[in-house]
Amino acid sequence: NTVLVLHGPNLNLLGLREPTHYGSDTLESINHQLKHHADSAGIAIETFQSNHEAALMEKIHALAHAPVDFIIINPAAFTHTSVALRDALSAVKIPFIEVHLSNIYARESFRHHSYFSDLAVGVISGLGARGYLMALDYAIHHISRA
Ligand code: DQA
Repeated sequence: NTVLVLHGPNLNLLGLREPTHYGSDTLESINHQLKHHADSAGIAIETFQSNHEAALMEKIHALAHAPVDFIIINPAAFTHTSVALRDALSAVKIPFIEVHLSNIYARESFRHHSYFSDLAVGVISGLGARGYLMALDYAIHHISRA
């Protein structure tokens, strides 16, 4: 049983980047917490960050041959722009949760629309790094019921 966690553009800068929106945890620390949580549940986890839309697409396409059970994705700025990533997730038909560190509805109006939310099992926005852990909790529960 495997969960894939995808982090979109600029999330490699977490910890340095606008801590009032995104908190002070680094991406490495978030990934570490996720790994710890997955390990204790006996679930394999892979994390992947890219600033390139195509790299994220290719990661998703590879799942057609080597599927995972669940995806947790923070598409970051691609949330608001990428029909291509939406279509890729739609094509592989793997259930996913959309996570945002900040509450996108409390920010600029261009962040209020997501190309992913209607396809997602659920959306967590505004709970900081804990949102990823909550999404993982759900994924573990979902996998163990399947
Ligand atoms: C984000 C919110 C997006 O609007 C923004 O472009 C990001 C991060 C979040 O986690 O709060 O890069 O997805």
